Amino acid sequence: MTSTRTSIHGQWSSRWVFILAATGSAVGLGNIWRFPYLTGENGGGAFVLVYLFCVVMMGIPIMMAEILLGRRGRKNPINTMHTLAIEEGLSPNWRLLGWLGVIAGFIILSYYSVIAGWTIAFIFKTGMGDFVGSNADQTTAIFSELISNPKILLFWHTFFMFLTIYIVSRGVKSGLEQAVKFLMPALFILLLVMVGYAMSTERFLDGLKYLFVPDFSVLANKNLFSDVFLPALGQAFFSLSIGMGAIMIYGSYLSKDSSITFNSFVIALADTGVAILAGIAIFPIVFTYGLEPSGGPGLIFVSLPIAFGQMPLGTFFGCLFFILLMFAAWTSSISLLEPAVTWMVENRKMTRYRAAYIAGFIAWLLGLLTVLSFNHWAFKFSFAGKTYENGLFDIFDVLTANIMLPLGGVLIAIFTSWLMSRSSTIDELGLSDSIAYKIWRFIIRYVAPLGVVVIFFNAIGLFS
Ligand code: PHE
Repeated sequence: MTSTRTSIHGQWSSRWVFILAATGSAVGLGNIWRFPYLTGENGGGAFVLVYLFCVVMMGIPIMMAEILLGRRGRKNPINTMHTLAIEEGLSPNWRLLGWLGVIAGFIILSYYSVIAGWTIAFIFKTGMGDFVGSNADQTTAIFSELISNPKILLFWHTFFMFLTIYIVSRGVKSGLEQAVKFLMPALFILLLVMVGYAMSTERFLDGLKYLFVPDFSVLANKNLFSDVFLPALGQAFFSLSIGMGAIMIYGSYLSKDSSITFNSFVIALADTGVAILAGIAIFPIVFTYGLEPSGGPGLIFVSLPIAFGQMPLGTFFGCLFFILLMFAAWTSSISLLEPAVTWMVENRKMTRYRAAYIAGFIAWLLGLLTVLSFNHWAFKFSFAGKTYENGLFDIFDVLTANIMLPLGGVLIAIFTSWLMSRSSTIDELGLSDSIAYKIWRFIIRYVAPLGVVVIFFNAIGLFS
C-alpha cells in the first residue's frame, strides 16, 4: 500500500532534482554565515572536529530516517507522522512531532529572512564600491550602521520574505531546479575564488590551523559541553536542515526507486564541503586584518568585504558573491515555509497561494522581533553557561538550533528505529538486511539518540 502512495503536491521530476532541492535547502546562510561565526565563538578546530563528528554520527543517519519517513508518509510532516504512527499501531499523537517541526520552521524563517536581508543590503554596498580599500574598522562601521537601522533591516526582511512566499506559492518545484542547478555550482566556484584570495593573505596558514588543529588550551576556561558540543550539534542539524520536517517534506516528493542512503551522503558532503570552504575563505582574512574570530553574527559581513575591497575585480566578485549567497538563502528559506504551507493546503483546504501568503506573513511578523534585536531591543542573556548579546534573535536561534531541531531529530530516530517495524524501514531504505542497514540501524537506535541526550543534558548542567 505504502509503495503506491503519492503526494498530492506532486513529485520531483528525477532523483537529481531531489538531490539539488535538498542540497539547496541544506546549503545556505547556515554554511557561510553561521558556521564561521560559531566556529570563531566556540573554539575553532575543536568545534569543527565535534561538528564533523555530529554530522557523521547523527546528521547523516537522522537525515536518512527523515527522508524515509517523508517518502513513506507522502504528506506534510504533521500528517505524515499521524499516518505512519497509526499504520505502525502507535499513538496518533506522534503528529505533535510534525508540529514541533512546523513551529521551529516558522521561528527559523523569521530570523533567517532578516539575515538574508543583510546579504541583500551587502549586494548593493559591495556593488557600489563602498568597501574599496577599506580596513577592518571601516567594514565594521559599515556593518554596525546597517544593523543599527531597523527601517533598512525591515525593508530587506520584507523583500526577502516576499521572494520566499512567491516561490512557495507557485509550488517549490518551479524555479527551484534552475536556481539550484546553476547558482549552487556558481557559489561553490566563487567560494574557491575567495579561498584563492585567502591563500594570498599573510596569515593563511594561521587560518587553516585555527580551523583544523584543535587548540585545547582555548578550551581551558570553557565548558566543553555548553561551549563546544551543544553549538556544534545544533549547527549540524541546522546546516543539514534536519529535525524540523524540511527534508521530510522534500522526501515526500521523492520517487520510490531513488536511494535514500546515496542521496543523504551526497547532500551531507556538499553541505559540509561548502561550510569548510567558507571557513577557509574567512579565517585567514580575520587574522590578517586583526578582526576577532569571536566577533559574532557579523563575522562574514566585516571580514569578506575587506577582501573584496583589496582583490582585483573585487567589486564585481563581491557583488556576485552576495547575490549568490542570497540565492542560497532563498533555496533554504522556501524549505522552511513548505511544511506549514502543505499542512494548510491539506488540512485547511486552502489554495497554495493563500496558504503561502498567510504563513509567510506570520513568519514576517515574528521577524520584526529579530529586526529589533540588533538595535532598540538588544539585550544580553545567559543560557546553558553561555552569554548571548543579541536578545531575541539569539533566543530564537538557540531555541531552534540547539533545542528544537535536536529534539525533533531524536524523536525521528526513536520513531524509525525503535517503534517502526524493521520491515518497514528495510523496505523504504532499500538496503535489504545488509551490513549497511545494520550499521545504520545501530547508529540510529543507540548512538544518535544517546549522543544528543548526553550532549544536551550535560550542556544545561543536569549531569554536573
Ligand atoms: N540548512 C539551512 C542553512 O544552512 C537552514 C535550514 C535549517 C533550512 C532548517 C531548513 C531547515 O542555511
